[in-house]
Amino acid sequence: MTGTANPAFEARRGVAVEATGVRKTFGPIHAVDGVDLELAAGRIYGLLGPNGSGKTTLIRLLTGLAQPAGGEVHVLGTKMPSREALSRIGYMPQSEALYPELSVAENLGFFARLEGRSGRAAIDRVLELVELGDRRGSPVLELSGGMRRRLSLAITLVHEPPVLFLDEPTVGVDPALRVQFWSHFRRLAAGGTTILVASHVMDEADRCDELLFMRGGKVIGQGTGRELRARTGSENLEDAFLRLAGLDSEGRPLGDRGAVEGRPS
Ligand SMILES: Nc1ncnc2c1ncn2[C@@H]1O[C@H](COP(=O)(O)OP(=O)(O)O)[C@@H](O)[C@H]1O
Ligand SMILES: [Mg+2]
Repeated sequence: MTGTANPAFEARRGVAVEATGVRKTFGPIHAVDGVDLELAAGRIYGLLGPNGSGKTTLIRLLTGLAQPAGGEVHVLGTKMPSREALSRIGYMPQSEALYPELSVAENLGFFARLEGRSGRAAIDRVLELVELGDRRGSPVLELSGGMRRRLSLAITLVHEPPVLFLDEPTVGVDPALRVQFWSHFRRLAAGGTTILVASHVMDEADRCDELLFMRGGKVIGQGTGRELRARTGSENLEDAFLRLAGLDSEGRPLGDRGAVEGRPS
């Protein structure tokens, strides 16, 4: 199916990704349960929530790889799913889809060609970025978990897409390289790239411009870290998350002490 650019969305300048009432079920499980969001161009959003809260499913809906049971997604003005929009999206899946028998460079070349980018220069640039230049001839099955994450990121970035969806990109990546990844994300955002990064740990949250807290398939809070802390009267983001989820600092239900409203009214 080919998506058509929707002038109403194009007119809304600065909005790169928009979801309205998007839902996805697996049998009885409401993996994504009515999510509305708007991601502004050139910003980094952190999608935070515990395992099973629906982050991966939401990202797959936003990329158009999963079909919603309800609701709509637009990326850069195009209704998803759209084949044509895929060239403008970079998606780093949580579990990588690499060819274990092929070398680092062969994997990268394969995916770059799929995106119409076979240039050696583009490949060298991303390999250098993820510090895999000296492993370009190694078969993927000989790489460590962190190296595979890095290769997967290189594949996501090689066609320089304006919208990036990164599903737990830094899991297994050592701290020094993690810092470099984040400075690269920041440079990309400064150049106008919109980035959504999923994470189940809060320690990367402060590097994001804005956060979306997910729980039980819903976005229970959105805003800057500072806003979310202020709104919940919390000192840190973990506590803010718990308050928004209606839990006390031990993770027990607050009951009629009430949950805090996640969005500004
Ligand atoms: N392909 C699938 N089949 C059945 N259930 C699924 C599938 N994918 C995800 N789920 C369920 O949907 C919920 C959300 O999962 P997921 O989006 O992977 O969460 P997260 O990425 O936050 O860990 C979980 O309950 C998970 O078990
Ligand atoms: Mg996930």
